[in-house]
Amino acid sequence: KRVAILISGGGSNMVRLIESMTGDHPARPVIVGSNDPQAGGLEKARALGVPAFAVDHRAYKGDRVAFEAALLEPLLAAEPDILCLAGFMRVLTPGFVARFKGRMLNIHPSLLPKYPGLHTHQRALEAGDAEAGATVHLVTPELDAGPVLGQVRVPVMPDDTAETLAARVLVEEHRLYPAVLRRFAAGDPRPVMLDRR
Ligand code: GRF
Repeated sequence: KRVAILISGGGSNMVRLIESMTGDHPARPVIVGSNDPQAGGLEKARALGVPAFAVDHRAYKGDRVAFEAALLEPLLAAEPDILCLAGFMRVLTPGFVARFKGRMLNIHPSLLPKYPGLHTHQRALEAGDAEAGATVHLVTPELDAGPVLGQVRVPVMPDDTAETLAARVLVEEHRLYPAVLRRFAAGDPRPVMLDRR
């Protein structure tokens, strides 16, 4: 299976995904794309031997469809079977999502369906939640709402800030996403439910 990955920033999840696709893994990374030409993850992808490109969303001044058309060109040229969003921070139109129906994954830093959208850790802390975590789900036109492919839970500590909680969750994201991708690429429908080691 050919895997494309979209990022917006440092791409720590993207790095783990690429590093996981070796040996008898049923998938291989073929392209990395970003909406930000300054994304630190672009160089990391190239250093790992994966071609990487950027389409600056700011050049399309809110014309989401035009931005997506520009993004799609190099993306489709790589003929991906699976598209992984990894720290990708642009909302995609239903038209874009439809092109990858059933084969676009996203990782979201909360235990969906709790806290779709932004500032998930701050919201979990304000709610006094005892645990937090991350979810990998299939992308559907509704934001952060598709079928869950995997989750990982971490405890919330009494002195946690949004930053300390985010750091603890991110470590587990790096375990969860590769595990989900491997199962998904192998056609194994069982969700991956992890608890922190
Ligand atoms: C992280 O907060 C992660 O939870 C979310 O995007 C952010 C950056 O991820 N998916 P990455 O380091 O760019 O993969």
